[in-house]
Amino acid sequence: MKFSFVTVFSELVSPYFEASIIKRAKDANLLEFEFLSPRDYSEDRFNRTDDYAVGGGAGLVFTPAPMFSLLGELRQKDKDAHIVFLSPAAKLFNYGDAKRLSKKEHIVFVCGRYEGIDERVVEEFADEVFSIGDFVLTGGELASLVMCDAISRFVPGVLGNEESLSVESYEGNLLEAPSFAKPAVFEGLASPSILLKGNHSKISDFKKSVSKIRTKYFRPDLYEKFLKGTRYEK
Ligand SMILES: C[S@@+](CC[C@H](N)C(=O)[O-])C[C@H]1O[C@@H](n2cnc3c(N)ncnc32)[C@H](O)[C@@H]1O
Repeated sequence: MKFSFVTVFSELVSPYFEASIIKRAKDANLLEFEFLSPRDYSEDRFNRTDDYAVGGGAGLVFTPAPMFSLLGELRQKDKDAHIVFLSPAAKLFNYGDAKRLSKKEHIVFVCGRYEGIDERVVEEFADEVFSIGDFVLTGGELASLVMCDAISRFVPGVLGNEESLSVESYEGNLLEAPSFAKPAVFEGLASPSILLKGNHSKISDFKKSVSKIRTKYFRPDLYEKFLKGTRYEK
């Protein structure tokens, strides 16, 4: 699977792919990353990509021309590329989206900065626009990394142990039960005794009931969906 990042700050994004699970997946050619800068498409003599907003107001906005050239060229090269814009003024990205998007062959993240990106670019090129939460970041790079990481976990072969996906938080609209690493007793602090008895059916029932309690407490909205039997994924 290929991820392209449209950003003026590729140096904020690329180091993330140099460690751990994602690096292993990149080295095994399961994931590929590309960085494209609107500055390379600017016709301004200082390679500027931003300007004041039409109608006034504070801050700068990404101008349409470099983005139209970059994304137009990209569309011509790969008409099936799925172009995602990042914005706090959009629908929230969730687990189901990560699963769905992992089936795409090529995802392009367009990272805003300043006050954002000229809306005509979004209207022309966006297949989807996502927010990663109800807060405002200084740029889309972190948001694109969050999405890329969450999506990558569903690409076959990326996680060593794919079984872990089936019991993870949000699967089936529940938060996962707490985990305990060995030793079972650490400085007098014990793990739940049921986990030590080797009865797998009882352990599974215990984890399911803690998982329900946790979800009901922390995420009553999700618990409602669980009760209604609505799957998280679309
Ligand atoms: C300072 S923000 C622009 C905020 C914009 N003026 C607004 O109020 O909606 C700059 C860029 O950061 C990214 N960004 C900020 N918060 C985000 C969020 N919660 N989710 C996704 N992207 C975000 C977007 O790419 C955005 O264009």
